[in-house]
This record gives sequence, C-alpha cells and structure tokens, in this order.
Amino acid sequence: MKRLYAVLFTLLLLTVLGTTAFAQTQVGIVLPTKDEPRWIQDQTRFLDALKTAGISAEVLFSQGDSAKEKANVETLITKGIKVLIICPQDGTAAAAAADEARKAGVKVISYDRLIRDTASVDYYVTFDSVQVGAAWGNYLVSKAAGKGNNLYLYAGAASDNNAFLFFQGAWSILQPKIADGTFIVRNSNKAVALMKKAALTRDDQASIIGQVTTNWSFSDAKNKAEANLTSASAAMKGTVYICAPNDGTARSIADTFAADKQVKKYYITGQDAEIASIQYIIDGKQSMTVLKDVRTLVSDAIAAAVAYINGSVPAKTATYNNGKIEVPAKPTAIITVTKENVKATIVDSGYWPASNFTGF
Ligand code: BGC
Repeated sequence: MKRLYAVLFTLLLLTVLGTTAFAQTQVGIVLPTKDEPRWIQDQTRFLDALKTAGISAEVLFSQGDSAKEKANVETLITKGIKVLIICPQDGTAAAAAADEARKAGVKVISYDRLIRDTASVDYYVTFDSVQVGAAWGNYLVSKAAGKGNNLYLYAGAASDNNAFLFFQGAWSILQPKIADGTFIVRNSNKAVALMKKAALTRDDQASIIGQVTTNWSFSDAKNKAEANLTSASAAMKGTVYICAPNDGTARSIADTFAADKQVKKYYITGQDAEIASIQYIIDGKQSMTVLKDVRTLVSDAIAAAVAYINGSVPAKTATYNNGKIEVPAKPTAIITVTKENVKATIVDSGYWPASNFTGF
C-alpha cells in the first residue's frame, strides 16, 4: 500500500512539474509600440522564428510608455522567463526595468536600441547604426553638385540612443561637405554653428537633435517640416536635400516638401525598408531607404537567448558603451536601397513578396 502511495505521489509530482515546465514562458520580448510597421514586423518575424526554434515566448508592447514597459517586464518576470529581449522606449528610463530583471536572475538582451546607464545589460543585438547614418550622408553627397545646396536635417527621438548613432554617422559624411560649402543647413542654426567640428560631443549632438527631432512621430515630422518651409525663403527651396531619420517620418516629410510649390526637386533618405516606403521608392517619392534585415536581428537575438538558456555566452563581435559599461554586442551590416537596386534587394532577396507592390 505504502509503495502504491509512493508511486502515485511521484506520478502526481511529475505531472505538476511537467505542467509547470510547459506553462513557463522561457523568453519575454518587449517592443516599443504597435503603431509603427517596423515593430509589428519584428513581432511577426520573432513569432515565426520562435516557433521553428521550439521556444516558448511572449511578446508585449509598451505603446510609447516607459511605465507600461516596466510593468510588462514585471509581468514577464512573474511568468518565470529566463531571458528578456527588450527594445527600450526610452533608453535611460529602461535601466530600472533591466535592473529588476537582473535582480530576478533574468538575462537581459537589449534589442536594436541600447539601454543606457546601467550595468544590467548582458548583450546587445543591433544593426550598425552609425553605418545607417553614413549611408544617408553618402547618398545625399552623391547627388549634390557645386556649392550652396539646400540641406534639411531631421533626427529621431532624443530618448533613443540610436538617434545619436544615426546622427553621428550622417555627420561624419555631411560635416566636411557643410564645412566646404557644398551644403548649407537650412533648418538648424546649431548645426551651422558647429559646422567646422568633425567630432561632436554627445551634448553637441543633443543640441542639434533638439532642434530637428521628429520624436519618431509622423505628425511631429510633418509639423516640423511645415514650420521649416514656412520660415524658408524661395532661395532656400528649389532643389533640396533632406536627411530624414526613418521611413515613416520620411514619407511625412516628403509629402510636406512635395506640397510646397517652391520645392522643385527633393532627395530624401530613410530606413527600415517599410512596404509603404518601398512603394514610394518605386514611385520616385522617396529616394532611398536602408534595409536592416530584421530576420538577422531576430535570429541573433534568439541564438543569444538559447545560449543563455543552455548556460553559455553568445558570440560577441563588438562592444557598445552605454554610459556605464561596455556591452558585448553583435552588430549586423546594412544595405542601401534605391530605385536601381530595389527589386534585387527587396523582392528577389525574399524580404517582401512582389505582391505588395505595383509598378516594378
Ligand atoms: C530603430 C529604427 C526605427 C526607429 C523608430 C530606431 O531605434 O532602429 O529602425 O525606425 O527606432 O521606431
């Protein structure tokens, strides 16, 4: 009888343990907002890849709110996650959530955007964001001839560390061409004042970004472009060169410039290879975008999570300083997309199906 009880007890215990193990979420993913196609794409590609990898995971969105982001992290910690993959809404504010995860024994992977000013970041998977900005600079320089070309600068949100890296890359290429008179910056007197300075400090960058930020918001981008055009004379229009920080804001800014009769021709940058912007490129309404292959970022993040789950350490190819520590990282290369190579880079590569587009 005693033995029977022991067997039954063991069976019960195994069932409970098994159920718990099954119910447990191994990886928690926190993304900044559902309101931009970029992050919906990351979610879709994560869910596809996680299914293939056989990992249990949950994705939560912060909807542009750091308090919600922290609550999301706490929910995931309660669910027993071993690894947190988080793209912070605000790089500095997210430090508190990372600290909490670290305290709970959870490994923290900063995804695409770096969490700043904390030692609680284990790993950073990212694209080479300085190269993204350099690609904008190179594109605009390649289209400009002579002197005195009108340049309009726009930036991402100052709460996003990437906005600084993109700007740094763009400045590295544009600054010598502003200093030698090829370009005249028309919408930032801070940039004009700093035009002789090749290596800007973070405070210098912040002062320019403060003037030209879009906050990653389509409506802020539109309002800023409208305000810039209202205060610009006809001579500051004509042919214009626009450094726009991503596809969503680029479409808003492009539409605003296109609606101004004194603007005769514009060149405009972007990034993310969003479906709507690929169509804009085919239609000649956006000049370039930067393809950041989210499939690679997702698979690097999952590989890192699996390494941590198995008690090892993911591969590191670089480090990024987050204001507190050097974070081990794996940056991925980017690809410039223009009308000339859009079919090869976007459709033939399998990134987006041709059925999304017209007019190829
Ligand atoms: C990302 C971009 C994105 C932007 C706005 C950046 O941190 O790297 O891909 O367009 O945030 O969400």
